[in-house]
Amino acid sequence: MADLKNMIIASMPHGKDVLQEIDDKRKSGTNYELEIGKIEATVGKYHKKSLSLVVNKIIDHGTLARTIRLTPKEGILPIFEAGQYLNLFTEIEGVRTSRPYSISSSPLQRGYYEITIARTKTGFVSDFLIDDVKVGDEFSANGPAGAFHFNPIFHSKKSVMIAGGSGITPFMSMCREIFDNRLDREVHLIYGCRNSDSVLFKEELESLAKEYDNFTFSLVLSEPEAGYKGKTGFIDEECIKSLVKDIKESTFYICGPQIMNDFVVNALLNLDVRKAMIRREMFGSRQDIQNEPGWPTDLSGKESFTITIDGKKKIQGLSGESLLTSLERAGVRMNVCCRSGECSLCRIQLTEGKVFLAKGMLLRYADERFGYIHSCKAYPITDVSINL
Ligand SMILES: Cc1cc2nc3c(=O)[nH]c(=O)nc-3n(C[C@H](O)[C@H](O)[C@H](O)COP(=O)(O)OP(=O)(O)OC[C@H]3O[C@@H](n4cnc5c(N)ncnc54)[C@H](O)[C@@H]3O)c2cc1C
Ligand code: FES
Repeated sequence: MADLKNMIIASMPHGKDVLQEIDDKRKSGTNYELEIGKIEATVGKYHKKSLSLVVNKIIDHGTLARTIRLTPKEGILPIFEAGQYLNLFTEIEGVRTSRPYSISSSPLQRGYYEITIARTKTGFVSDFLIDDVKVGDEFSANGPAGAFHFNPIFHSKKSVMIAGGSGITPFMSMCREIFDNRLDREVHLIYGCRNSDSVLFKEELESLAKEYDNFTFSLVLSEPEAGYKGKTGFIDEECIKSLVKDIKESTFYICGPQIMNDFVVNALLNLDVRKAMIRREMFGSRQDIQNEPGWPTDLSGKESFTITIDGKKKIQGLSGESLLTSLERAGVRMNVCCRSGECSLCRIQLTEGKVFLAKGMLLRYADERFGYIHSCKAYPITDVSINL
């Protein structure tokens, strides 16, 4: 076994150097293999595989959104980077599922996490969290996870944050950290909402803008009420040009629904912003997947197909619902996290049939070669067979 392991390491780029280093460490008394248990225990303490959380406080933002404060049932909460998310598991109508929510509270606050949930049109989990959850309820979660955060080595000190709707949440965490800690960064937050009623954290953002010279807040409403005097329309090239002075020197962070995200990225590319200066977080796949480019024109999203699992169990799934959703509906417990194609945890093998792969699925080369796909981004467009 050890020989096989060494052969595999040796065949990798710089593998021989790695083997030499392991050998040297062994001889000089630092045998990392003996440390593995200790390392795992330390990592496990700060990055638990699963968190048990209790609802400690609820702050309603009208009827359209609510902030839920979560404290640990026991022990401490893992630290996180402003911008990361928590994947919250729920049990609704007998279905165990989960949804990722960006942490909106500051990472300086170590006693709790806050998540802010906005109501969506056909909300399954969001409606439940807004209408049914009460103080004292318990949840399990994984995370904090995600790579949508400030990187002092690669990112400019000038940050332009562009939020759409509930996409404001990771920016609240970032702004709270930056201004509570008096960090040396220039922030311009451009927040696109439908109308004044759907703006979250307005008072806090306006008050930060009054207090700090290094913070600019621009609200852009796409369907403003009569008499509204602020900026209106979409966050397009013209809008960005008119608001941002140092386009070329800024790092752009975009967060919101996929359609808004793609629209803003295109606008930035048309303004010659380099791709490396654009960081994005998408709040999941679009609900109307049948309108995504490349979707088979003869399917409406409502067709039912048979999904055969591990050659035995058969379930039904709709073309317009991800395989992950169909599996969860059928009672299969999936260990997932991002639900947006990035973390790989929902990987399954497609052995027969065809699926539509939604935008944003990050597949490894080996996965592609051996037929692995991410079930959160795969939609059945024929009967399919899969291995879990
Ligand atoms: C990284 C990340 C961070 C996010 N952060 C936030 C945030 O801070 N705030 C926020 O508001 N949102 C956030 N989101 C979006 C959030 O995860 C949810 O997608 C959003 O709350 C909508 O969830 P929903 O279940 O209400 O609607 P959907 O996810 O659209 O779910 C509706 C779908 O549920 C399925 N469904 C319906 N009924 C059933 C059933 N009986 N059984 C099983 N499935 C069913 C159907 O497929 C239906 O299309 C984030 C997303 C990502 C990826
Ligand atoms: S849950 Fe992360 S890739 Fe599907």
